[in-house]
Amino acid sequence: MASKKPVPMLDLSGEFEELKAEWYSLIDKAGKKGAFILGDNVTRFEKESARYIGAKHAIGVANGTDALQLSLRALGIGKGDRVITTPWTFFATAEVISEVGATPVFVDIEPGSFCIDPEQIKKKITKTTKAIMPVHIFGHPANMDAISALAEEHGLALIEDAAQAFGAKAGRQRVGGIGDTGCFSFYPTKVLGCYGDGGLITTNSDELNDHIRRLRNHGASAPFMHEEIGYNSRLDEVQAALLRLKLKGMNMMLDVRQRIADYYDEQLDGLDLTTPPRPAKGRHAFNLYTIRSYQRDAIREAFEEQKIGHSICYPAPLHLQKVYENLKYKSGSLPVAEQASEEVISLPIYHGMSQQQAARVCEVIREAIG
Ligand SMILES: Cc1ncc(COP(=O)(O)O)c(C=O)c1O
Repeated sequence: MASKKPVPMLDLSGEFEELKAEWYSLIDKAGKKGAFILGDNVTRFEKESARYIGAKHAIGVANGTDALQLSLRALGIGKGDRVITTPWTFFATAEVISEVGATPVFVDIEPGSFCIDPEQIKKKITKTTKAIMPVHIFGHPANMDAISALAEEHGLALIEDAAQAFGAKAGRQRVGGIGDTGCFSFYPTKVLGCYGDGGLITTNSDELNDHIRRLRNHGASAPFMHEEIGYNSRLDEVQAALLRLKLKGMNMMLDVRQRIADYYDEQLDGLDLTTPPRPAKGRHAFNLYTIRSYQRDAIREAFEEQKIGHSICYPAPLHLQKVYENLKYKSGSLPVAEQASEEVISLPIYHGMSQQQAARVCEVIREAIG
């Protein structure tokens, strides 16, 4: 029988204990050199992560939001342009489109993967469409074969929001290495998370690589020589040191998540809920393990009572958020995403979570709806 102890949604303390000695020693070395900004750890992490993703270049930036915004800027997207994206994502995906002066065009998602539906993208491409921004949501790869084909056919830029999907694969290729750019977040809750903020852009284009490197550093092409308006958006040396350590264990960390996901699948089988499907081709990174159920609220109440960590990603799709009232989407316009917001709940899944804890989560679900 599973212990009745509370289960947190995420607990990084065990991992921190495992990593801290090596991490501190890397920080110590950087400190002794006095190299705190764009030092060796950033340069090395950029090389190591580019190799891991299978992209020609990787550029460390301050966070995942900046990774998306710098990509849009480097691809020349701005006022009057339209960018097709998903309403089923964290707000930052659409926020940056608006931030550069373009308009997000939301299209519906697939009910299983929760990723943008390529058939819906096709219907919304117009003369002013400049880019497609799919999101590999929860770690499930979007259908990149179909989306890349549409981008190519219509001459559109393709920006992958891979914030939640470091290590996921679409077919044989890791996500982030397919579009013009791939954008990652290292926010602590992510599959590859640091202990603060951090982000990364991957690209196979030499030109975009040069441009993004300039943009992240105030648009400077040489010290104190500025070509354009840029940003202060550099990955921190202290975070890069940690990310290098965690990247070495990346496959193991993905396997741990996969094992917890498989265990949940098995234990929840037969209940009146839907467990997350695996991609037809590729690999899920399981940043989140999200189930759907008509009885979601009963599960949530039981979790609250029994102190089981959970999150509702997402309680309201972006096209119905107050901030986008001006875009005039009506309730019912993107029915798959809207229905999902009534039914989803994400369960705890993290490196260091025990099988006993996963068993307790399943036990509480069974008691609530079994
Ligand atoms: C899908 C998605 N895009 C973008 C971001 C933004 O990343 P960051 O918080 O590092 O700015 C996040 C982070 O939560 C995300 O989940």
